[in-house]
Amino acid sequence: MKRLFALLLAVIALSGAYGRERINFDKGWRFNLGGNMEMATAEYDDSRWRLLDLPHDWAIEGDFSADNKSGAGGGALPGGVAWYRKHFRVQDVCKYYLEFDGIYMNAVVFVNGEAVDYRPYGYSSFVVDITRYLRCTDNVIAVRVDNSDQPNSRWYSGCGIYRHVWLTKTDYVHVKHWGLHVETDAKTGKVNVKTEVSGKNYSVQYSMKDAAGREVAKGSGTQTVLHVNPATLKLWSPASPYIYKVSARVYNKGKMVDEFTTTTAFRDFRFDAKTGFWLNGKNMKLNGVCEHHDLGCLGAAVHEDALHRKLLKLKAMGVNAIRSSHNPPAPELLNMCDTMGFIVMDESFDMWRRRKTQNDYARFFDKWHERDLTDMVLRDRNHPCILMWSIGNEVLEQWSSADADTLTLEQANLILNAGHDASTLAKDGEKSVNTLMAEHLADIIRRYDTTRPITAGCNEPSPGNHLFKGKALDIIGYNYHHEWIKDVPQNFPGRPFIMTESVSALQTNGYYRMPSDEVIIAPKDWRETYKDSTYMCSAYDNMHAPWSSTHEETWDVVKHTPYVGGQFIWTGFDYIGEPTPYGFPARSSYFGIIDLAGQPKDVYYMYQSEWTDKPVLYLFPHWNWQEGQEIDLWCYYNHADEVELFVNGKSQGVRRKTERTGEPIEGAALNTPYHVGWRVKYEPGEVMVIARKNGQPTLNQVIRTAGAPHHIQLDIDYKGKELTFVQATVVDMDGNRCPMAENQLRFSANNGKIIATDNGCQTSMERFTSLNRKAFFGRCIAVVKGHGELTVSADGLMSNKIRF
Ligand code: GAL
Repeated sequence: MKRLFALLLAVIALSGAYGRERINFDKGWRFNLGGNMEMATAEYDDSRWRLLDLPHDWAIEGDFSADNKSGAGGGALPGGVAWYRKHFRVQDVCKYYLEFDGIYMNAVVFVNGEAVDYRPYGYSSFVVDITRYLRCTDNVIAVRVDNSDQPNSRWYSGCGIYRHVWLTKTDYVHVKHWGLHVETDAKTGKVNVKTEVSGKNYSVQYSMKDAAGREVAKGSGTQTVLHVNPATLKLWSPASPYIYKVSARVYNKGKMVDEFTTTTAFRDFRFDAKTGFWLNGKNMKLNGVCEHHDLGCLGAAVHEDALHRKLLKLKAMGVNAIRSSHNPPAPELLNMCDTMGFIVMDESFDMWRRRKTQNDYARFFDKWHERDLTDMVLRDRNHPCILMWSIGNEVLEQWSSADADTLTLEQANLILNAGHDASTLAKDGEKSVNTLMAEHLADIIRRYDTTRPITAGCNEPSPGNHLFKGKALDIIGYNYHHEWIKDVPQNFPGRPFIMTESVSALQTNGYYRMPSDEVIIAPKDWRETYKDSTYMCSAYDNMHAPWSSTHEETWDVVKHTPYVGGQFIWTGFDYIGEPTPYGFPARSSYFGIIDLAGQPKDVYYMYQSEWTDKPVLYLFPHWNWQEGQEIDLWCYYNHADEVELFVNGKSQGVRRKTERTGEPIEGAALNTPYHVGWRVKYEPGEVMVIARKNGQPTLNQVIRTAGAPHHIQLDIDYKGKELTFVQATVVDMDGNRCPMAENQLRFSANNGKIIATDNGCQTSMERFTSLNRKAFFGRCIAVVKGHGELTVSADGLMSNKIRF
């Protein structure tokens, strides 16, 4: 029957002309945790399996446990094997492609019982031509996902078909997958276009349109140059992300048989060894953050709304760049970065041949790196947001030592971040195997794209790093080591430089360790373990890992060193896994500027005051302490000459940010060029801060001592197309947040669905899908889907409702 159908297809295709149709294929999959190879067969009865829609991450539904093989580093959530199956019919006779944006990991795809593809790397997108396996009756796709060999990641990976799936139908003559390539030149308005077409006897015509849909250029041929009048073209930048579209129309025997459209933009950028980063003739810093792919309590499953919320919060902070650490991101992230205006560093790998965790990608590297790297570039190269490729993060090939293969995850992390031995570096003039490997990877990228520089996140800052030798890297990139930056010009003469990763400060949202001008390095030495029964980190900017710094220390260097093109702070949002400096029961990170629930930590406002023009006046912490206790109050501000603090109406003095001395900022202080502070005796009541410009008050902020928890305040934090994020705050009678409240909140919805809850606490063992969650420092969020009314209640508190 199958062969017959294939023959039929071939015959009919000679006469047929069918346009491209890309159908979202997420709905109506059957899911089973565990299983055997029988589940691949067409006949298998899956009717009792759970029915769900993709994207889906089964690990996020599980319980945190010290027994899960992922370990605290992987989020202490389960792994395992699972099967997904979907039944469907096809009617038209044409080509059928199944596109998987990402499956974590080791995916085997079966169509009607036949194995048609295998992809081990969980972050690669891939396509399968399923035409010849289809039947004209029912069809079944079965996907086996195997994330049982753990640990295989230094962070939470998620499990399952966690990105979208698409079914694309095309005519037999069609633009190949990732087959339209567009390169623009902002100076001349020239647009190089190239289309790879499958089939014979075709012609290709192009139309380029501006954001208003007006045609600005046209042309024809599989490879040609379109011309946009340079006087009229609009440039792309984070502040003004102006997008164009290029469509390729394919004609066969005079009939249009395919149309494929891609976004593009004009931007002129360069990295200069003396002056840093330039975009469209303007010198600017990459004010970037590193981001892992999880979306907090939603896990690894892609939700456009959650991504959009994330990017909105980062944008409001002043972030203009994102590093997709340490793997290619979901396509939707790149689409949003194109249109919302974020510069992206697209990164391929966290390891090459030498592993960092027992079962990681190193075991696939030899066989798969070329395909995975090629696919990253082919998939992503039309995105105007991408301005850099990274061939890897902190790969152990920076050194020649082979110990790496025997390290535990903890040892690898520590060595990566702190330890290096000079004998493992490249000698003068030496071109080692590792250098050749770096060049080999860079060459793969350059085969498909020569318009963007290549870098790597390196944590060996010395010129003897094997990756810095040879021709692989266009931009020298260090992670951390801000104290080495002064040596960059003599260590790397003529080579541009950025901080590919920086800071790694540690903070729990809402928890403060005083005195705030004492820095806690956790642990003091990277060889030690850090213990503190609170499992919390201080939210003043006064705590960081031994390889890193406070936020202010690094920002001061980046801001005032012209040859530093910018930085990518570790990280914008907290993520699941890697709870440095703690182990289990900590299970999510402390590094974020925004917590896992999406609530900004205090230092968010330091960046906002430095990176945006928005007027900022932000006083913290809360005002609920023990009578007589000495409390440090910090204030971030901009657009003002001075600020004054009042405790119950009594002035505590006027402060101005200190002048820069030119010496590096070390440690923390009450007053710095980035914040001011007061040390005052606590008395209940209120604190008020006033900002003044030219003697005139501009802004003020009041924080009041909260009384006993009284009711739950509900606010819409973000409303998307499908998901709504509701912020629940435990407040006193007058609406002041109770900063110590830990009430157990209960969530219910009359309609719609509660998908997840979170409070930003790194040690909470409550399931993310739970409808009960403790407030953490008075706060909690719920993610709801659809429309309905959410009720939040707690013993002893007045409950509340909100429509979504
Ligand atoms: C870096 C590494 C990141 C993360 C970070 C924590 O060395 O690249 O993935 O582990 O340290 O500080």
